[in-house]
Amino acid sequence: MLLPLSNASPSPEPQIKKPKGPLDFKRNDPFKSLKAFLAAHYPSFNQPRICLFLSIFFIQILLLVAFRSLPLSLHRRRQHFPSPFSTRHHQHLNQTVATIATAPSIVKEEGSCEFGKIFVYELPSALNKELVSNCDELNPWSSSCAALSNDGFGPVATGISSVVPENLSPAWYWTDQFVSEILVHNRILNHKCRTQDPNNASAFYIPFYAGLAVGKFLFFNYSSAKERDSHCEMMLKWVQEQPYFQRNDGWDHFMTMGRISWDFRRSKDKDWGSSCIYKQGMRNITRLLIERNPWDYFDVGVPYPTGFHPRRDDDVVQWQDFVRNRNRKNLFCFAGAKRSLVKNDFRGLLLNHCRNASDSCRVVDCAGSKCSNGTSLILETFLDSAFCLQPRDLLIINTNGSCQGEPESYSVFIDRNEVKNGTTSIRKVLESYSEDKIKRMREKVIEYIPKFVYARPQGGLETIKDAFDVAMDGVLRRFREQGQPGFRW
Ligand SMILES: *[C@@H]1O[C@H](CO)[C@@H](O)[C@H](O)[C@H]1NC(C)=O
Ligand SMILES: *[C@@H]1O[C@H](CO)[C@@H](O)[C@H](O)[C@H]1NC(C)=O
Ligand SMILES: *[C@@H]1O[C@H](CO)[C@@H](O)[C@H](O)[C@H]1NC(C)=O
Ligand SMILES: *[C@@H]1O[C@H](CO)[C@@H](O)[C@H](O)[C@H]1NC(C)=O
Ligand SMILES: *[C@@H]1O[C@H](CO)[C@@H](O)[C@H](O)[C@H]1NC(C)=O
Ligand SMILES: *[C@@H]1O[C@H](CO)[C@@H](O)[C@H](O)[C@H]1NC(C)=O
Ligand SMILES: *[C@@H]1O[C@H](CO)[C@@H](O)[C@H](O)[C@H]1NC(C)=O
Ligand SMILES: *[C@@H]1O[C@H](CO)[C@@H](O)[C@H](O)[C@H]1NC(C)=O
Repeated sequence: MLLPLSNASPSPEPQIKKPKGPLDFKRNDPFKSLKAFLAAHYPSFNQPRICLFLSIFFIQILLLVAFRSLPLSLHRRRQHFPSPFSTRHHQHLNQTVATIATAPSIVKEEGSCEFGKIFVYELPSALNKELVSNCDELNPWSSSCAALSNDGFGPVATGISSVVPENLSPAWYWTDQFVSEILVHNRILNHKCRTQDPNNASAFYIPFYAGLAVGKFLFFNYSSAKERDSHCEMMLKWVQEQPYFQRNDGWDHFMTMGRISWDFRRSKDKDWGSSCIYKQGMRNITRLLIERNPWDYFDVGVPYPTGFHPRRDDDVVQWQDFVRNRNRKNLFCFAGAKRSLVKNDFRGLLLNHCRNASDSCRVVDCAGSKCSNGTSLILETFLDSAFCLQPRDLLIINTNGSCQGEPESYSVFIDRNEVKNGTTSIRKVLESYSEDKIKRMREKVIEYIPKFVYARPQGGLETIKDAFDVAMDGVLRRFREQGQPGFRW
């Protein structure tokens, strides 16, 4: 990821400080720069680490899409969601099954919206639908129409049936990594806590496709700052005129921004990205982002869309069983490509490291477009390996501002410098983990699977909460908390 990293001097943001109290994230540092942050909080950033994640589910899919759409194929990072895994297996299956096809929202209506209801704005279509219908123009190299088809899930992943269980293969899509705006919009229109009456709402959703709007301008060498900001400005002008926005200074408003936070944080005209998040009117609006700025209270992390979109609870359970029982032939694997523009590129070194340990490491060299042509090679590789290497560039923090659980419970950290200077062998480190320990770690990842997937039905799954459900619960709880006297600042 060249730009956000090399362009690591976003302007200070003194006004976005952390609230005291329950949401105080223990991070009071003023926002200086990405590098400064990483250096401060992750001393090993300057000597960065590798995370060795158990490859169970999503990372492989993240990578599947990672190498597809762009010249800047970025780090995909996993997200850690706050609430514990909860598959609420109900007794009234009969009702559940009956409602899937017709009105799934009824099923989850249990505690029914104790944290409030959501009103969804009807924006001028230039800010959402029109962007999708002009899918030919969203990206300077090729049409995005296929990528945005199927309600944003993309083309069904045909070549995949030899790798995944046959009856699950229709649940796999070639989903683009930047479509969360569309997925969330469709889901929220069907959310059980949606209200048509703004008077009854405690949360207001702005269905602006911020990432789609700016996408093509990011890569046009000659696009002006004005072009890159115009949709965002249009949205802010529109929304600030709404009476319900003024009522709480925008504090109860939220939106999805389908790219990483750094794409919306341009400080100088000639720099990368739009400056949408820095615009004055954005100050109090909560943003759901695939990678958040960890200092900004209003940025909330949600998972990258992956390729697996379960159609019902049973798809999730089956997939969990499948990855749990998989016979993994390789101790570890690495899929990636050299980044020739990066000095001392660590990915290149990992490729060599993995090749050199060929009896225990399986390598997928994604140079060129080898991994972006509809191949299931990466998925297969991950499924066949106990660990996979994930070099860490940036980090993500979950909705709650803290990492989920203990990272040691599902991952292994290895100091990058020790790998570089040859004092650590990745293989030796991994070999020191017992089968039993690995199994327990894998179980942890399996437990998180539902929280990392976006379900296919627009009403969600029957009883299992997916990434979208977790995000909505979090937003509603958060807004409740923000309503406490003295909270807002
Ligand atoms: C649900 O269960 C009840 C009683 O067990 C049964 O009478 C009814 O037909 C079932 N409904 C459906 C849609 O299967
Ligand atoms: C919604 O708001 C209206 C007033 O605007 C009120 O009469 C009604 O009871 C509210 N409904 C709910 C479910 O709170
Ligand atoms: C972008 O524009 C600059 C001059 O404005 C030019 O030097 C550079 O080669 C261009 N880069 C690309 C990739 O077109
Ligand atoms: C943000 O919220 C604060 C506190 O409610 C308010 O004073 C300020 O005007 C708001 N800013 C914007 C841009 O809405
Ligand atoms: C490959 O492994 C051999 C023997 O284990 C070692 O001598 C050599 O330095 C390694 N090469 C690299 C590039 O890691
Ligand atoms: C994708 O590329 C790989 C490597 O070049 C090749 O082996 C594979 O057949 C290609 N797959 C498709 C679907 O084109
Ligand atoms: C290798 O790197 C580690 C971590 O930076 C350092 O502690 C160690 O002294 C280095 N060893 C050698 C032989 O350079
Ligand atoms: C944040 O985490 C705490 C403790 O882990 C939990 O009780 C709380 O519900 C979480 N908040 C949100 C918004 O998910």
